[in-house]
Amino acid sequence: MSPVSFPSTFLWGAATSAYQIEGAVREDGRTPSIWDTFAHTPGKTAGGDHGDVAVDHYHRYRDDVALMSGLGLGAYRFSISWSRVQPTGRGPAVQRGLDFYRRLVDELLAKDIKPAVTLYHWDLPQELEDAGGWPERDTAYRFAEYAQIVGEALGDRVEQWITLNEPWCSAFLGYGSGVHAPGRTEPVATLCASHHLNLAHGLGAKALRSVMPARNTVALSLNSSTVRPLTQDAADLAAARKIDDLANGIFHGPILHGAYPESLFTATRQLTDWSYVQDGDLATINQPLDALGLNYYTPALVSAAGPDHSGPRADGHGASEHSPWPAADDVLFHQPPGDRTAMGWSIDPTGLYDLIMRYEREVPGLPLYITENGAAYDDKPDAEGRVHDPERIAYLHGHLAEVRRAIADGADVRGYFLWSLLDNFEWAYGYEKRFGAVYVDYTTLERTPKSSAHWYGKAARTGTLPEIDEVF
Ligand code: FCB
Repeated sequence: MSPVSFPSTFLWGAATSAYQIEGAVREDGRTPSIWDTFAHTPGKTAGGDHGDVAVDHYHRYRDDVALMSGLGLGAYRFSISWSRVQPTGRGPAVQRGLDFYRRLVDELLAKDIKPAVTLYHWDLPQELEDAGGWPERDTAYRFAEYAQIVGEALGDRVEQWITLNEPWCSAFLGYGSGVHAPGRTEPVATLCASHHLNLAHGLGAKALRSVMPARNTVALSLNSSTVRPLTQDAADLAAARKIDDLANGIFHGPILHGAYPESLFTATRQLTDWSYVQDGDLATINQPLDALGLNYYTPALVSAAGPDHSGPRADGHGASEHSPWPAADDVLFHQPPGDRTAMGWSIDPTGLYDLIMRYEREVPGLPLYITENGAAYDDKPDAEGRVHDPERIAYLHGHLAEVRRAIADGADVRGYFLWSLLDNFEWAYGYEKRFGAVYVDYTTLERTPKSSAHWYGKAARTGTLPEIDEVF
């Protein structure tokens, strides 16, 4: 196989999430999620942007599926809006909400596109936040109930399931730095929320399996960081270790290995005694997984901070005077050298290779999927209305080549989902940052595939990466 050809079974997909694209926030019984509330709170998002209309995918899903089909994509990862199917976060489901997802899935299947469902991509029903949110243990039980409802409704036609998307962002940005909904800035709540998200994953995986055909697969998507020390000095290595525990170990420790890292307990001892970890929780969290989803954009570069330096707060998704990282004021984040995307994120495809190989070593035999990877650029249509985005093509080529290298080195990577199918609501950045392979005109909502969409479509159809400068 040539270095740019992928196995014939490799899945070529694109990803989105409900609040970022659906709109229709008050239709068919949907109630507000924490993101509706947060985005409508002055000062929380760029330009006061919100997802009320987003890219109107709720009404245009057929066109969006047709777009994917035209490009030749084989898979589509999307998320379910919890408050659309279970408005108060508890009790019976709203059939109209579930029907939307049934129609979407049927449309995908009719076009031979494999659906991959994410149950939770950050949009907690507001009523559950009012009852305490993720720092409250009951939220994990509510999630399990919701997982069962969706598993029962769609388990007959969706094989690939993802419980949570990037629980780090839910906990550390939602309850730590507050740049994401619900916008709380409480270090202990951040750690407690992390544990309850882990518990939600375990309970949710069990609930899904109790109602779904055995052929279906259950995974979760972690934004596992590749954490690099600035130097090999002991203090910098210790700083990298601490961030690795807080970024990765806090989730994959209990989920993949049934235990939190001891070093995480030590590092956070002055804040919390972790008494919210109850007997039996670790066994519940440590459910067997069928696959692991890795989301990767950029690596982290860290060092020990000097004694009088509290350091810039790297969180990637927005600036805050509050650090997302509990108990890490002694760590300094650095901007790695080299090119950056419009998010200011440095471009380093080898970080993806390193991440894949780490999990290949850590959980040998567990199939891996890249469930998100992509880049924002300031795309603009030219005089003919075409959108050329050579930087995105270079980004995708670079990262896919590293995926291919990892496969050649023995990693079991089964598929790749480009973030994102469409330009969409990029959380705290609103509509300012465009991650789509398909351009969206936010006045007319017209969709125009960028050159990268054509480039990626050709990769999907042929299983081989086109040249970086091939003209589309
Ligand atoms: C990830 C999120 C996704 C999008 C990308 C850019 O962390 O899962 O929704 O915001 O970043």
